Formats: sequence, structure tokens, C-alpha cells
Amino acid sequence: MPKKVLLIEDEGRLRRLLQLVLEDAGYDVKTASEGNKGIALWQAWKPDVVITDLKMQPVDGIDVLRHGNRLYPETPCIILTAFGTVTTAVNAMKQGAYDFLTKPVDHSHLIEVVQQALIERDKSQKTEHNMIGTSPEMEKVRSEIRILASTDSAVLIQGESGTGKELAARAIHAASTRSSGPFIRINCASIPRELLESELFGHKKGAFTGASKDRAGVFTRAHGGVLFLDEIGDMPLELQPKLLHAVEEKEIRPIGGGKPHAVSIKILSATNQDLEVMVKEKRFRTDLFYRLNTMILELPPLRRRRGDIKVLAEYFITRFAREFGRQEPEISKAALDMLSGYHWPGNVRELRNVMERAVLVCLEPKIKPHHLTESIQRKHKNEKMETRSSLDLVAKEQELLIAALEQCNWNQTKAAKKLNITRSALRYRLQKYGIVKSPP
Ligand SMILES: Nc1ncnc2c1ncn2[C@@H]1O[C@H](COP(=O)(O)OP(=O)(O)OP(=O)(O)O)[C@@H](O)[C@H]1O
Ligand SMILES: [Mg+2]
Repeated sequence: MPKKVLLIEDEGRLRRLLQLVLEDAGYDVKTASEGNKGIALWQAWKPDVVITDLKMQPVDGIDVLRHGNRLYPETPCIILTAFGTVTTAVNAMKQGAYDFLTKPVDHSHLIEVVQQALIERDKSQKTEHNMIGTSPEMEKVRSEIRILASTDSAVLIQGESGTGKELAARAIHAASTRSSGPFIRINCASIPRELLESELFGHKKGAFTGASKDRAGVFTRAHGGVLFLDEIGDMPLELQPKLLHAVEEKEIRPIGGGKPHAVSIKILSATNQDLEVMVKEKRFRTDLFYRLNTMILELPPLRRRRGDIKVLAEYFITRFAREFGRQEPEISKAALDMLSGYHWPGNVRELRNVMERAVLVCLEPKIKPHHLTESIQRKHKNEKMETRSSLDLVAKEQELLIAALEQCNWNQTKAAKKLNITRSALRYRLQKYGIVKSPP
């Protein structure tokens, strides 16, 4: 499929000329004569690249850029500018324009810039740094990411499974001064205990059976960049003192001796467990907890920012249609309503999987409810039958939980017994409803 270029230019002759130049180069081109029409086409047609003039009435190129960047941050936007307005163009670059071209436009340079923009876009799509979402909650996350990226302090990223913690970590790296340095991720939950220490700090040859040569750990490999300790809640207690030392002193001691050496790193960690509860239960060290959570980034679950569901669904449709080389289907209102009403326990990851499947199985121009996975359809049916009483049930459950805890002086073991459930079942419910003891 030819790549789609949207050209927004108010001057009719130039618009037609550039359209011909781009079509000659093999692009599928649509044009708009003004900002508002351009934005509408951007949304409806989903071009691969946008080229926009800067000075237009009533809506100018900067507005187009701002709008597009929020909805489709992965689409490169190239600015056309008259000679002498280069400062405005530089300003546009700061707002996220991909590049700018001064008029009169050199035709072969135009094609080069468009080609380059497409290559860069594919690269950035693969690395997936773009946090999509237009809800106030996501705007807040994005602005927090910018702030967190500007310091070297450690950041703890919290949020339910699939809310985008890893994506946020990569975005912090990309926005930081360390972006040209490495981004190294280690998943503390998936590495066997006995290997974890060596993975973190490295080892000297002969340090243990099987250590046939010196090996650098992730702390050393992340030097000059960012180290992302994923699933930090699974860090074994016995390794935590050594980790604390490395985090505090930025000094690494490989297993089996060798000189301690200094590293320059920014440390990010992530978890979907409640570390504070783990600290209380002595499953996580207090000192390490305070070290890692100097700054906190909280990623809200998808059901608390339902406004993002539509934008994300459309984003994934575009992405997967492109990936599968399919014509991009639209989403029907009925399917969208179903997505919007679902509670998304698996958050954005679940939505991504649902949309991937929908694009695969949908051979019509529109995605309909039957293209969505069964769990969503079923949930939808059940929810339709639910009445207020189910809401009351939740409220009643919360009341019961609190009453039992208060009677037992917030001793969870005793409260669980009273409620005739296991302690972990109680803990699960407390986490689910966010019930905590309020300060006296
Ligand atoms: N705001 C977003 N915009 C676009 N894609 C997103 C967004 N949030 C999450 N995703 C996508 O959803 C998937 C899950 O995200 P990610 O792996 O970062 O979640 P996580 O919080 O680390 O989950 P887990 O706790 O299960 O490890 C990824 O494919 C990611 O690219
Ligand atoms: Mg993750």
C-alpha cells in the first residue's frame, strides 16, 4: 500500500504543485486548504506523514501540530514556512514538529524529508515510547514523565498490570538527558533467585560453578543510562541490602571479588504490588523502599480514564492494520460502546490484544461487536442485567470488611477469621477497594 501523505496548505497553486510532486514519488496524497479541515482529515484518514503550512486562517499550522501530536504522536508532522519566519519554525520544532522546509520548497529535499520521517516513525513505533491518551489523567502522567526525566532521582512506577509501567519507564529514558545512553531492564520476578545477584552485579571468573568468565551485571551495563528494575516487589529479601548499597552509593561489587566500581545511572523501578503493605509485613526493607520511591509515578487503571478507550482502540486499529497490511477498518458505535463499558482488568494490554484480534478477524469495513472477544461480549450482557442491587452488594462488602477490621483493631489475621475467609483473600479485597486504616 502506498504511504499516505496529508498536505495542508492554503495557497492553491503551491498545494497542487506539491501534491503532484508527492504523487510522482509514489505517495497517496490528500490535501486540505486550512487547519480545521486538515485536523478533520488527519483524524478521518490517518495519514502516515503530515505536511502543514504554518500561517493559515483561521486555524494555523501550530494548532494542527498541537492537536495531531496529542492524538497521533507517532505521526511525523513537517512544517512549511516562508523565508524569514524561521524562528517560528524553530518554535514549531520545540512543539514536536519533525522538521521544517522553507519556501520555495526544493522538491527533491521535500521527498527526502518525507522518506526520512517515515523511517524514523517506523523506528519509534517499534520502540513504542508513545503514551497514547487524551484524558486529564494521561496528560498528568505525560507532564510528570517530563519532570521525572529531568532529574537523576530514582523513580518508582506503580500501577495495575498492563497500565503501561514499562512504556512509561522507556518514555522517561527517552525524555531524559540519558536518552543516548543505554536503557537496561531486568525483570526481578522472572530470574531464578540464585542467578539474580550475578545478573544485577556481575561476577568474576570462578566465583561459582559455571562462572567460566567475568560477566558484567545490569548495573554496570546501564552505566551512562537508565536501569529499570521491573517487578521490584519480587526482589528477594536477602538481596535487598546489597541492592540498597548499590542504589545509594552507585558502587558495584561483582560476586567473587574484584574492585568495587562506580557507575552513573538513573534507577527506575516498577511494581503492581503494594510495597507499603509489603514493608509493613516485613517482606520488603523499609530503607530500600524509601530509596526507590524518592519520586512516584502512578499509572491509573484504564477504567478510571474511560475517555482514553476510544483513542487507544483507534490507535491500535491503525497500528495493527498497518502491521498486517490490511485496509484500516472503522469501529462501529456498538463495538465502541461495548469497549467503553467494559472494566478492563488487564488494562491497556488487554485492550491491545482485543484490538489486534478484532483487526485480524474483521474482514468488513467496520469492526462490530462480534469481532470483539467473548469475555467482553459476555461481560456486556451480564452488565446489562445488573441492577442497582449489585452496586449495593459491593458497598455492603466494603462495610463488612471495615466493620470486621475495626472489631479486630485492624488485625488482618483476626478479621479474616471473623469473615471466614483466608488472609490473602482479605488482603486482595482490601487492595481491590483501596481500604486502608485511616489515621486516628
Ligand atoms: N498509554 C498507552 N499508549 C499506548 N500503548 C500503551 C499505553 N499503555 C500501555 N500500552 C501498551 O500496553 C502494553 C502493556 O504495557 P506495559 O508492558 O508497559 O504494562 P505494565 O504496566 O508494565 O504491565 P505489567 O504490570 O503486566 O508488567 C504494551 O504493549 C504497551 O505498549
Ligand atoms: Mg511490566
